[in-house]
Amino acid sequence: MTETRRIEAGKTGTEHPVIQILSANKIFPNGTQALDAVDLNVQQGEFLSLIGPSGCGKSTLLKMIANLIEPTDGRILWWNGGPERIGSAGSRLAFVFQDPTLMPWARVDANVRLALDLERKGADKSDVAARIHAALDQVGLAKFARSYPRELSGGMRMRVSIARALIDQPDLLLMDEPFGALDEFTRNKLDLDLVRLSWERRLTTLFVTHSIYEAVFLSTRIIVMAANPGRIHSELVIDEPQPRDEDFRGSPRFAQLCRDLSRMLTEASHAGSPQS
Ligand SMILES: Nc1ncnc2c1ncn2[C@@H]1O[C@H](COP(=O)(O)OP(=O)(O)OP(=O)(O)O)[C@@H](O)[C@H]1O
Ligand SMILES: [Mg+2]
Repeated sequence: MTETRRIEAGKTGTEHPVIQILSANKIFPNGTQALDAVDLNVQQGEFLSLIGPSGCGKSTLLKMIANLIEPTDGRILWWNGGPERIGSAGSRLAFVFQDPTLMPWARVDANVRLALDLERKGADKSDVAARIHAALDQVGLAKFARSYPRELSGGMRMRVSIARALIDQPDLLLMDEPFGALDEFTRNKLDLDLVRLSWERRLTTLFVTHSIYEAVFLSTRIIVMAANPGRIHSELVIDEPQPRDEDFRGSPRFAQLCRDLSRMLTEASHAGSPQS
């Protein structure tokens, strides 16, 4: 069933939903119901994380937003300058996967340029070079522009993937367990960088993780999902000052929020299928 709702402005009056998901269902052709009646707004400037048991539909939701798969039912709406002009055209999104998916035969700068090449053929060459340099500089890799992916560590390859995602000023950044394959130390470092980048560039991010600590550290809001079928179970707002730093990670408040989220996840994993 498709439901329509008016988009409402955020608290400050300048915030607005970048994307609105209305009663989205997904049933795959083999009969698996991956998502059931998901309603979700992603507000401009928020860092929203999805967390939940394996198979609860997190990746499916991101792929639906990226238009890689279609919802079986419901709607996904993009903001296009005003609530009355909401539509699917003109919004830019970038997708960062767990695997950095770099072209092994191309140098780092060429891998970052790929996003621009796909978007705009015939762009000014010096402008392109400056933007690539700026994007690599932001992720601390300016010195590695001429390296090949095989010469980089796993964390550095992921930084290249983030530079590529950010080069075209996306309205929405989708990240599906981007740091899941990295060791904890590297992951913490990349989380810190992501906090800084989000703050400096006012990014709007929808982030999937299995890590309670990572979700609490990064997010302004966390959506806890339940499985069978995948659905939203509960929500936790992390109303802490930005940009966050190591002091937050070591604070009693952080530990308390992690305990709260852990309890919510346990409840979500014990939640049975909704009665029909
Ligand atoms: N192409 C597909 N065809 C059939 N079923 C699918 C397909 N893709 C996903 N599924 C099923 O949909 C459900 C949700 O999958 P999804 O990959 O979105 O879960 P997830 O929350 O991202 O899990 P994980 O945490 O393990 O990455 C699972 O039951 C999965 O088996
Ligand atoms: Mg997944």
